[in-house]
Amino acid sequence: MIRGLVIHPAEPPDRAGIREVELQAFGQPAEADLVDALVANGDAVLELVATLEGEIIGHILFSRLFVEADEGRVPAVALAPLAVRPKRQDSGIGSALVEQAHALLREAGERLSVVLGEPSYYGRFGYAHERAAGFASDYQCEALQALAWGEAPATGRLVYAPAFSGL
Ligand SMILES: CC(C)(COP(=O)(O)OP(=O)(O)OC[C@H]1O[C@@H](n2cnc3c(N)ncnc32)[C@H](O)[C@@H]1OP(=O)(O)O)[C@@H](O)C(=O)NCCC(=O)NCCS
Repeated sequence: MIRGLVIHPAEPPDRAGIREVELQAFGQPAEADLVDALVANGDAVLELVATLEGEIIGHILFSRLFVEADEGRVPAVALAPLAVRPKRQDSGIGSALVEQAHALLREAGERLSVVLGEPSYYGRFGYAHERAAGFASDYQCEALQALAWGEAPATGRLVYAPAFSGL
């Protein structure tokens, strides 16, 4: 872990730095635009930034997701996107963001998180495709993974925040 790394909730003055990290990490505007739309629509549940000497070098966002299950509409969260500045990758910043965010989400009573991403990366935090395989989703595939922190549905339709339909 990098010395001097500080992780804290995103605040309004962080918006430009967050956008730059997303653009640099993905090399395209889609993820930065997704972040802006999720925040503008009030669909962000948790957003953290990692800073080093005042510069934003990493960012993670969880948005509200609903599982339309037999027992009704159950709230969950979707992890997307996660980004670390290219020159700072492979130093544990992404992992620190995921782990700190998970701790805060659990404390807040969240029970289920879903991610669409590389299983070899997200598996280290407990995400598994098996936990998500029962969900109906346009994104259903091996990369769709879930992590439950308590009683949570394993079947039902995943309903993402509207900003995802703009991707
Ligand atoms: C993916 C990302 C967020 C990881 O953050 P990071 O700070 O570099 O990662 P960490 O230092 O916590 O972890 C490094 C480990 O993750 C692995 N890793 C990094 N990116 C990976 C990827 N796309 N797929 C699989 N493994 C990956 C590294 O090989 C390394 O493995 P090791 O611990 O076995 O050596 C960062 O590389 C990034 O911003 N990438 C571009 C954007 C992106 O792809 N975001 C994820 C969308 S699903």
